[in-house]
Amino acid sequence: MLEIFSVCKQYTSGRGHITALTDISFSVAKGQSFTLAGKSGSGKTTLLNCLGALEQPDGGRILYNGQDICSMSSRQRAYFQRRDIGFVFQTANLLPWLTVAENLMLPLELNSIYGKKQKGRIEELLACFDLVGYEKAMPGEMSGGENQRIAFARAIAHKPALILADEPTSSLDSVTGYNLIELILSLCDVQGSTLVVATHDPELIELTNNRLYLKDGRIEAAT
Ligand SMILES: Nc1ncnc2c1ncn2[C@@H]1O[C@H](COP(=O)(O)OP(=O)(O)OP(=O)(O)O)[C@@H](O)[C@H]1O
Ligand SMILES: [Mg+2]
Repeated sequence: MLEIFSVCKQYTSGRGHITALTDISFSVAKGQSFTLAGKSGSGKTTLLNCLGALEQPDGGRILYNGQDICSMSSRQRAYFQRRDIGFVFQTANLLPWLTVAENLMLPLELNSIYGKKQKGRIEELLACFDLVGYEKAMPGEMSGGENQRIAFARAIAHKPALILADEPTSSLDSVTGYNLIELILSLCDVQGSTLVVATHDPELIELTNNRLYLKDGRIEAAT
């Protein structure tokens, strides 16, 4: 599903030229769960952002089902991002002025899922994430863990083929984080989604099928 060839990325900042990724090549099969592991600053977020076309690599190619995502037009890219991808960020990133149900509606509306189908999907998601009765709650009235569960529910709402999650459990205690990843993996299994997750939590790393260890922007090991 994803083929990454010799991806490189540099930044120019107040610290001068920073090489964030050097010669990264790997592939991710459909339905696989995949961890990007490595210490802080090793390049996990940069790589994940390149996979989701949120950032452009300076060199190399990223193919999604054979199509080079780096050469997509901005329109194609936006369509790819809203149809094929579910993003989960380190902090939940829910829209604070919308209720839980309204946050869950967003990816559904963007993918033309309305009416009864939309309502049914929201009910299904709330049940899956043990949040029945939270429809009208506002993100600010819920705990960090509850927010992160809604963020995951929102990411998978439109059944995207690819879920990209950047340290999604780093603000949760280890048991809550572990349970959440187990739940996501089982939902990905059911709907055939692929999961790529950046984490440095050793317990979570073990849960996925495959792992890529990054060090200073290079691949240190792949298992
Ligand atoms: N926008 C940016 N401008 C300049 N340098 C950046 C930028 N984003 C990341 N970097 C640098 O690129 C390198 C890789 O950063 P990245 O955020 O990908 O690491 P990470 O593995 O996700 O770290 P963490 O575990 O702390 O989230 C670091 O040296 C970082 O300082
Ligand atoms: Mg990061």
